[in-house]
Formats: sequence, C-alpha cells, structure tokens
Amino acid sequence: MLKKVMPWVDERLPVTDSWNRHLGKYYAPKNFNFWYFFGSLALLVLVNQLITGVWLTMNYNPTEGLGAFASVETNIMRDVKYGWLIRYLHSTGASAFFAVIYMHMFRGLLYGSYRKPRELVWLVGMFIFVCLMAEAFFGYLLPWGQMSYWGAQVIISLFSTIPYFGEDLAQLIRGDYVISGITLNRFFALHVIAIPIVLLGLVVLHILALHEVGSNNPDGVEIKQRKNEKGIPLDGIPFHPYYTVKDIVGVIVFLILFLGIVFFNPEFGGLFLEAPNFEPNNPLKTPEHIAPVWYFTPFYSMLRAVTAPLFGIDANFWGFMVMVAAIVVLFLLPWLDRSPVKSIRYKGFLSKLFLALFVVSFAVLGVLGLPPNKLTAWMNLDTRTLVTQISTVIYFSFFILMPFYTRMEKTKPIPDRVTYK
Ligand code: HEM
Repeated sequence: MLKKVMPWVDERLPVTDSWNRHLGKYYAPKNFNFWYFFGSLALLVLVNQLITGVWLTMNYNPTEGLGAFASVETNIMRDVKYGWLIRYLHSTGASAFFAVIYMHMFRGLLYGSYRKPRELVWLVGMFIFVCLMAEAFFGYLLPWGQMSYWGAQVIISLFSTIPYFGEDLAQLIRGDYVISGITLNRFFALHVIAIPIVLLGLVVLHILALHEVGSNNPDGVEIKQRKNEKGIPLDGIPFHPYYTVKDIVGVIVFLILFLGIVFFNPEFGGLFLEAPNFEPNNPLKTPEHIAPVWYFTPFYSMLRAVTAPLFGIDANFWGFMVMVAAIVVLFLLPWLDRSPVKSIRYKGFLSKLFLALFVVSFAVLGVLGLPPNKLTAWMNLDTRTLVTQISTVIYFSFFILMPFYTRMEKTKPIPDRVTYK
C-alpha cells in the first residue's frame, strides 16, 4: 500500500527525499555520548509545552482581578478533569526545558560545536535561547499571583532605567502606566501565539543549518573529511535507526525523572513553583523576597552585582547592561575561541581551567540569585554582593580572555578518526 502511495506523494511533495536527508541517510558520527541526548530531549520538551499549553489555554482566562488567578488555581487545578496534571506537566516542563537547554549548550562548550562550520547552528541556537527566556518571562505573569506580578514589575522597571526613552519603552511593554489587565492580555498573546511561532521557525532553521554541515562529536573531528567510495563518511552511521533508537533510551530515563517530579514534587521545594505565587497578586503588598525562577537567577545575580551609579546613571541600569552583556557575549563565542582544536579532550590546561571556573561561577550566581536559603543563610548582604561580583568577573573572563588562553596553551594532537570504545 505504502509502496503504491509514496511515489504518488513524492512526485508532489519530497517526503521520502526529506526522510532520507534528515534521518535514513543522515550520517551522524558514531561516537555520540551522553551529552548528545539533549537535542532530542529539547524537541520532546518543546512538544510537551505546546500540547499542554494548548490544553491550558482552553481553560485559562486572561482577565485581571481574580479572573486569571482563579482560572488557574480553582478551575484548572481543581475543577477541570486532569487539569492539575496538564498544569504540572507545563510548569515542570518549563524548568525541564531550561535544564535540558543548559546541558545542550554546555555540550556545545565542551566540544566546540559552535566553531566553524557550525557558527549558524550556534547563532540560531542563541536566538532560540533568548526566545525561550522571553517565553518563560511572559508565561510567568499568567497565573497572576504575587510573584508573577512583582517579578514582572522588577524586570519591566529595568527597561525604564534606560536614559531618554526607557520610561516610554516600559510603558509600551506594559501597555499601561502600571502592570494591569492590559499587560496581562498582551503577555498572554505573546506567550501563546507570537513567541511559539518564532520559536518553532527557529528550531526548524537550527536543524536545517545543522544538517547542512553535519554534526560535530566529542572528538571535534570532521567526519566528512574521510569518506568511502560511495561518499559516506567512514565514521558516520545513519541517524535512523541507530540514533532514533538510542535517543529513546534517553527519553525513557528523562521521562522517569520528569514524571517523578510532576507526580511527587511539582513545586520542587519552591524552585519550580514559588510559594508567593499561590497568593493572588496584590500591588499594595511586596513579597519579602522577589526572586525569579531558578533558571534566571544567574543573570539576576549579575544584575544585582552592580551597586554603584556611574556617569550619573542609576546602578540598576548598569546592572541591566551587565545582564544583557552576559547573554550577548555567548553569541560571540564562535569568534572568541582561537584554539586549533575544537574538543575539550584535546585542548590544554587553561581551557579546562577556565571552563571549570565558568561552570562554578554560573552555579554560584544561580544559588545567590535565589531567596536566602540553607546554602547562603550564613552570608550577610555584603558578603553575598562580594561573592556575586567575583563570580560575575569570572563569568566574563571566561569569554574575554578566551582569544588569549586558547592560543597560548599547548594542545594535544587530534586523531584522524573519531575515537570509539
Ligand atoms: C528549543 C530548543 C532547541 C532544540 C529543540 C534544539 C535541537 C537540537 C537538535 C535536535 C540537535 C541535534 C542533536 C544534538 O546534537 O544533540 C541540536 C544540535 C545543536 N544545538 Fe540545539 N536545540 C535547541 C536549542 C539550542 C541552543 C539554545 C543552542 C545554543 C545556543 C543550541 C546549539 C546547538 C549546537 C551547537 C548543535 C550542534 C551540536 C553538535 O553537532 O555537536 N541549540 N539542537
């Protein structure tokens, strides 16, 4: 049946051709390891967010007062059949998305996957990352709780610190002089329609760009440089069935962890769903600590690391600029790394040291951006600020010094073929 139908379809739409190009005859390096699970997992979480998002939207009501809050906490969580499950899949999915993406990006850092010829794969990935941050920020206002309101208040007011047009810009974002039902409506539109469309388009571009040049691998060796007489890379294996099957193993392990959290600990100790957000928002009552969800805290810490005004402009503005710079600098990575080798396996001591320092500084910033907790309770405000400042400097040194340490250090010789046990 399929043999009869497919030629008819293929003459009109190249389905078999596309299947072969992207799966059946897409030759991926045979030495993919643990870090290569996260691309397919990102796709899985994206689909989860889209499906659960559509079902949430069926019962969500973006109106101010108690409207939006009650539609989440009463209707969806209590009245709608399995509404709690749909909501927890979506809220846990948001955190899972960032966890997966941070691992996915870290793989890029480890193996130099941002280097030539994959610069566009990386750049499109970075645009995806920025979109993802915007998507999470807009979505967080929708439950219309205390942290939704005050979190948005803090972030939007950052725009108002920009000299000359900041106040107008903040007003444009809010659509009002204060955060109101108008803001809620536009954030809803951006969260459910505008950003997801852009995100989906970028994901398609990301994969097309990757398949144009082919995947990197833990050795950073270009497999296309050694092909057999049929033009197939000697170290390549067809993505389907080899990696489709392997990725299913990753999916199963991921789903065990993910569903474990959804069913047994969806608030995740206040990290995934923050306690103040179980209260309807109240513009007259500021929560004791305003802190974003964990995946934003490293950047939030950098914002707070700047404490002094400069050139007569408020410290908040400079903090905001540092936060923006922390993201912009990631875009530049393909041009900062000057090492003759791609993978950390063959780089020298300095690259390894700086990468380790970068990871530690990012984690420390993340913990310090959370409300005071067991790990940070012993620190007073001054100590916290100092540690944040030191970590911010380390974060930036990883990038700024990269053109120097990647050229200075002694690298190991790279093998001709990928190494595979
Ligand atoms: C919705 C988000 C994303 C999805 C669905 C996604 C999906 C994928 C997939 C399926 C692959 C191929 C499989 C793999 O190598 O793991 C891939 C590769 C890659 N992605 Fe992403 N990605 C996303 C976000 C990002 C971000 C934010 C970055 C970095 C800024 C990024 C950078 C890369 C790079 C450099 C590669 C090539 C890796 C290599 O060949 O070693 N991706 N992505």
